[in-house]
Amino acid sequence: VPLREVEIEPTYSRPYKVVIGDCCIRKLPELLRDVVSEVDKVVIFIQESVKDLSPTQELVELLKELYETYTKIVVAGESAKDINNVLDAVGFLHSINATKSTLIIGVGGGALGDFVGFVASIYMRGLPLILVPTTLLSMVDSAIGGKNAVNMFGIKNVVGTIYQPRLVVEDLRYVYTLPEREFCSGLAEVIKYGVTIDPEILNLLRVRGDKILQREPETLTELIERSVKCKGWIVHLDEREERDVRQILNYGHTVGHAVEACAEGKLTHGECVMIGMIVESDLGNRMGYTDPDVHDVLLKLAETYKLPHKIPNYVSKESVLSKIEHDKKRYGNIIKLPVVKRPGEFEIIKLELMRLLSYLSNLLDEYYEK
Ligand SMILES: NC(=O)c1ccc[n+]([C@@H]2O[C@H](COP(=O)([O-])OP(=O)(O)OC[C@H]3O[C@@H](n4cnc5c(N)ncnc54)[C@H](O)[C@@H]3O)[C@@H](O)[C@H]2O)c1
Repeated sequence: VPLREVEIEPTYSRPYKVVIGDCCIRKLPELLRDVVSEVDKVVIFIQESVKDLSPTQELVELLKELYETYTKIVVAGESAKDINNVLDAVGFLHSINATKSTLIIGVGGGALGDFVGFVASIYMRGLPLILVPTTLLSMVDSAIGGKNAVNMFGIKNVVGTIYQPRLVVEDLRYVYTLPEREFCSGLAEVIKYGVTIDPEILNLLRVRGDKILQREPETLTELIERSVKCKGWIVHLDEREERDVRQILNYGHTVGHAVEACAEGKLTHGECVMIGMIVESDLGNRMGYTDPDVHDVLLKLAETYKLPHKIPNYVSKESVLSKIEHDKKRYGNIIKLPVVKRPGEFEIIKLELMRLLSYLSNLLDEYYEK
């Protein structure tokens, strides 16, 4: 399968490429020369779980031949985003005399990318950054668009910046080693793009289920490329969430984030987004915005891709409602809720928090196992 390149043109920041394909990491040294000049050192932050995989080893070897290269292993999962790791990383950069010409590369899933993006953005007010996402979720979502964040006071994503990478390299070989649950979780975000922006994605998900689940390269490439284009389009229109467009990326996340926060790590982000989209499409329908087909499509896809469609009973309804009430994305007493009319057509509606909570208070009962 030939490599694909998608150009991201954010509203304000400089444009950059996303390169997608099998073994595309081998092209990184060549691609790098076009996007960063005068590299004095390279620091590669690597998520522990991918340090021994062959694409990672290839990358490190290639760069060591060309530059003074340092590697730093970062713990896997959400703990990477602990604010204390930021001070460690900044200390490390200082200890090797990092300068404005030091290139930062992040190899790992969304958690690693959020952490490294934040570090790169604050050290000397910004070092050049290249992201090598290694989960499906990070390939289609978090590595693009520049948002990063770390956790503090037990609050997720409470400190962060918007800082775009110079290049994103998506080597498909990383997808093949993902546990099935992580792979399917990433598909939840792909489903989100299908429902909100590009109905052709829904079509692919419907007719090529077997190939997708087998992670067949050609189908994967198409699915990832289309998803990256969706994200790129939104980041082009509204990089900084100023125009009531970027909020569409939070489709399913109002309920999804609340469930995730109450599930104490037992559900993945994608699983919660899937539940969230199912509930919010029903809500949208009851409020008169959403075509009922949307909900049915989502239920079918959840089944095909082994994603949940109910809230587990250990997550109480009260705790979910309380999380929504304290959602960071509130504007005073107003919540901006993305709704879908039909696949590919969306709107951001402003809803009073109390109204949303009273709707959900009734609706959520239907989303528990009886
Ligand atoms: N910045 C954004 O725009 C944005 C968007 C969505 C999500 N996020 C953030 O992303 C994070 C979730 O990202 P994620 O789902 O990638 O989780 P993750 O980074 O925790 O990775 C999931 C798991 O997969 C393992 N893993 C990673 N790559 C692998 C590979 N190639 N083979 C085998 N195992 C591998 C990891 O070690 C980890 O255990 C959250 O912190 C979330 O807040 C950020």
